[in-house]
Amino acid sequence: MSANDLLALVRPDLRGFGGYSSARKEASGGRVFLNANESPWAPAIEGGEGLNRYPEPQPEALVERLAVLYGAQPDELLVGRGSDEPIDLLVRALCRAGEDAVLICPPTFGMYSVAARVQNAALVEVPLRATQDPARPFALDADAVIAAALGNPVKLVFLCSPNNPTGQALPVATIERIADALAGRAIVVVDEAYGEFMRQPSAVGLRARFPHLAVLRTLSKAHALAGARIGSLIAAPELIRVLRAIMAPYPISAPCARAALAALEPTALAQTQVHIAQLIAEREALRSALEHVPGVLGVYPSDANFLVVRCIEPAVIYRRALAAGVVLRDVSRYPLLGDSLRISIGTPADNAAALAIFTNAAEAAA
Ligand SMILES: Cc1ncc(COP(=O)(O)O)c(C=O)c1O
Repeated sequence: MSANDLLALVRPDLRGFGGYSSARKEASGGRVFLNANESPWAPAIEGGEGLNRYPEPQPEALVERLAVLYGAQPDELLVGRGSDEPIDLLVRALCRAGEDAVLICPPTFGMYSVAARVQNAALVEVPLRATQDPARPFALDADAVIAAALGNPVKLVFLCSPNNPTGQALPVATIERIADALAGRAIVVVDEAYGEFMRQPSAVGLRARFPHLAVLRTLSKAHALAGARIGSLIAAPELIRVLRAIMAPYPISAPCARAALAALEPTALAQTQVHIAQLIAEREALRSALEHVPGVLGVYPSDANFLVVRCIEPAVIYRRALAAGVVLRDVSRYPLLGDSLRISIGTPADNAAALAIFTNAAEAAA
């Protein structure tokens, strides 16, 4: 698939658009900066050094570091405010309002449909199917996704792997099948927000065969930086260039870029690996414990840092938890999850508190 084929998927009115020409983009070299109407003095606050200057639109050192982390080239990577931002940018760049469509497989992450709604792009839904296989309780029908994408003006297919809120990663063969069938027809986006917790390799490795496949990653989950809002899109350089052009001029704040770079230093990364292993062990321990609690109908297997628990009275458990100061996520409004609550894996003490809510509710009901 050539660069031209890929660009043909972008909104025609945006293909040659250069975006805002910010002072930071125009400046090269220089010693005295009088081009951006900034203050010449740093603010008199702790950590204020350099904050009087606008940041780099795409901080070069961070882009390079993230590219190494994810096994990509720097020109294939866009840094955004979380991965939420590239989701929105993709929809805006590819979908003509009122004409093009986004395909999702519900139940899935809510921001895909929000971004589609904001852009007035149609939503094509191919729901997951419940199966009888306890190891794979939700199946994504690749043939149905392909047929729906080809039968509608779909420009973007969002595949969430591991999926939020169901928790399981998609088989690599399913991603390959969909990507293979949609070459030249749509961009296939694999959202790996929870990729660090899964056992299979990242879909980034598939990009060599499928240049129209894009991957979302984030520092918000395993890397413990949700507050810094640093997410990445790995995609074809020509697509990244289009998204950089339509993005806000200075999206990545300097303190957040600094925090992200620090979190990617070897010592911090080693700590992240320890925490990932600990969260996975805690997740499995909590899953086994919950499965024995009366009133719990089952706990879905998870490749992420959360568990989805089926229970007889999810609303009662949710309220009991809240009254005890433990905030769970009620996912019962999602299709296929009408009896379920989602629990993010916390510290051992947090998880013990969550377990106690379920066991106390069972005792109260006995
Ligand atoms: C599947 C998925 N993708 C993307 C995001 C957005 O994460 P962020 O914008 O913090 O990178 C989330 C957040 O919960 C998520 O669950």
